[in-house]
Amino acid sequence: MVEERNIELEVAPDRREGTADRDGGALGGSTRVGVIGTGYVGLVVGACLAETGNDVICADIDAEKIARLNRSEIPIYEPGLEPLVKRNLAEGRLRFTTDVAAAVRASDIIFIAVGTPPDEDGSADLQHVLAVARTIGQNMNGEKVVITKSTVPVGTAAKVRAVIEEHTEVPVHVCSNPEFLKEGAAVDDFMKPDRVVVGVDSEHARKVLAELYEPFVRSGNPILFMDIASAEITKYAANAMLATRISFMNMVARLCADVGADVHLVRKGIGSDARIGQSFLYAGVGYGGSCFPKDVKALIRTLREHGVDAGILDAVEEVNASQKRLLLEAVTTRFGEDLKGRTFAVWGLSFKPETDDMREAPSLVVIEGLLERGATVQVHDPEAMDVARRYHLGDRVVYHDQSFQALAGADALLIVTEWHMYRRPDLQKIRALLRNPIIFDGRNLFEPARMREAGFEYYSIGRKAVQPTRPTAVVS
Ligand SMILES: NC(=O)c1ccc[n+]([C@@H]2O[C@H](COP(=O)([O-])OP(=O)(O)OC[C@H]3O[C@@H](n4cnc5c(N)ncnc54)[C@H](O)[C@@H]3O)[C@@H](O)[C@H]2O)c1
Repeated sequence: MVEERNIELEVAPDRREGTADRDGGALGGSTRVGVIGTGYVGLVVGACLAETGNDVICADIDAEKIARLNRSEIPIYEPGLEPLVKRNLAEGRLRFTTDVAAAVRASDIIFIAVGTPPDEDGSADLQHVLAVARTIGQNMNGEKVVITKSTVPVGTAAKVRAVIEEHTEVPVHVCSNPEFLKEGAAVDDFMKPDRVVVGVDSEHARKVLAELYEPFVRSGNPILFMDIASAEITKYAANAMLATRISFMNMVARLCADVGADVHLVRKGIGSDARIGQSFLYAGVGYGGSCFPKDVKALIRTLREHGVDAGILDAVEEVNASQKRLLLEAVTTRFGEDLKGRTFAVWGLSFKPETDDMREAPSLVVIEGLLERGATVQVHDPEAMDVARRYHLGDRVVYHDQSFQALAGADALLIVTEWHMYRRPDLQKIRALLRNPIIFDGRNLFEPARMREAGFEYYSIGRKAVQPTRPTAVVS
C-alpha cells in the first residue's frame, strides 16, 4: 500500500486512475504511455515519445537504474539520449519508477520493452515479458493497448493476451511493434525510422498506434500495418538477414586471404550492384551485441519447431563463431600458443562503435584467449571500459584512459572495434610505443601498402598480410 501511495504522488495529477479519455489519445493530444523495461530500447522509446509531447512513465525493476535516471544520470552510453532525457524529465513529461503496477494503472498505452535473453536451448526466454503481462492483467483499470516492443518469437502476442485475460475481463488490445533501432544511432533511428512495423488485430489499436507514430513518419517513411504474426517474424527475418550478409562476407574474406585477393575490392565490386547494395558487407571479427547472436539462435529454434530447415542460419552462426577466433589465431600463428611473458594492446571493447554495450562482443573472445594463454592485456575503449570492468573482465586486464597508453611495451596491437578515434592514428607514435611494430587489425582500418611503407607487420581480414619494407627489430 505504501508503495502505491508513493507512485500516485510521483504521477502527475492528470495521470491518476480514471482521468484519461478512453481512446488512449487517439482523439488527439498527448497520450499516457507506460514503458516497462528501461534498458537500451525502453529508455530510448520512452524519451522519444515524451519528446513528441506524450506523458510517459518508464518502469523498471532495477532500482539502481531508476534512482540514477531520477537523478538525470543516463545509465548507458547512447549519443543524443542524455539531453532528451534531461529535458523531458525537467518538463515533467518523462518519469521513472520501480512500481510497474502503478505505471500500468496510470497508462493507456503500454510498451513491453524488457529483455528476451536466450534460454538454454537458444529460444527467446519470455519469462520477463510474461511477468509484465501478469502485472498488466492484475492492474487493468480500463481498456488499454499493450504493445510487445521486445523482440519476441511468433506467437508471443497471443501468449501475452492469454496471460492478461487470465486476470481481467476489461478489454485489452495486444499488438506487436518490433524495434529496429541500432545502438549508437538509437535516437535518430527512433525519431526518423526507415519504417515502423505494427502488427494489430483491432481497428482501435491501429488508430492509436497510427496517431502515436504520426510525428515520426512525417517525412514519408512508411508505417506498415500487418497481422501480428507477420510483424513478429519481420523482426527476426531482418536481423537474420543482416547477420547472414556479415557471415557471407566473412566467408568470402577467408577465400580472399587464401588466394591473395582483397575483400575490400570484392565488397566494392558486389556492393555497387543495386540488387545487393553496400550495407552490412564488411568483413571483420564477426557480429556480436545483444541482438544478432540471440535473434539468430531464436529464429533457428522457431524454424526447427515448425519443421523448417534452418541450415542457412546454422552456417551463419558457425562462420561467426570461427570469425571471432580469427584474430587470436593470427596472434598464435605469429607468436606461438604459449603467450606467457607477452603483452598485447587491445583497442576497442564494445561490440561496435558508439555504444558501451559489451554483450557477445568479439573483444571478449579475443581477450579471454590471450589471457588463457598467459598474456598480459592492456586495453582501451572510449566508452565501454566501465561496463567491461563491472560485468565482463574485472581486473584481469589493464585499463588505460588514453589509447596510446595501452600500447606501451606491448608485443603487438589488436584492433577489435572501429571507433572513429582509431581510424587515423599517428603511426610513428604507435611504432615508437610498441615493442614490435605489429598490428592485427580486425576491422580493416588501414591500407596494407601504407602499413608496409610505415614499417609495420600488418595482419587484417580478407587481405594479404604485409611485412615492413624496411626490416625492423622483430621479436624473437
Ligand atoms: N538493444 C538493442 O539494440 C535492441 C534493438 C531492437 C530490439 N531490442 C530488443 O528489445 C528488448 C530489450 O532490449 P534491451 O537491449 O533494451 O535490454 P536491456 O537488458 O538493456 O533492458 C531490459 C530492461 O528490462 C528490465 N526488466 C526485466 N524484467 C522486468 C520486469 N519484470 N519489469 C520491469 N522491468 C524489467 C531490466 O531490468 C532491464 O533494465 C529485447 O527483446 C531486445 O531483443 C533490442
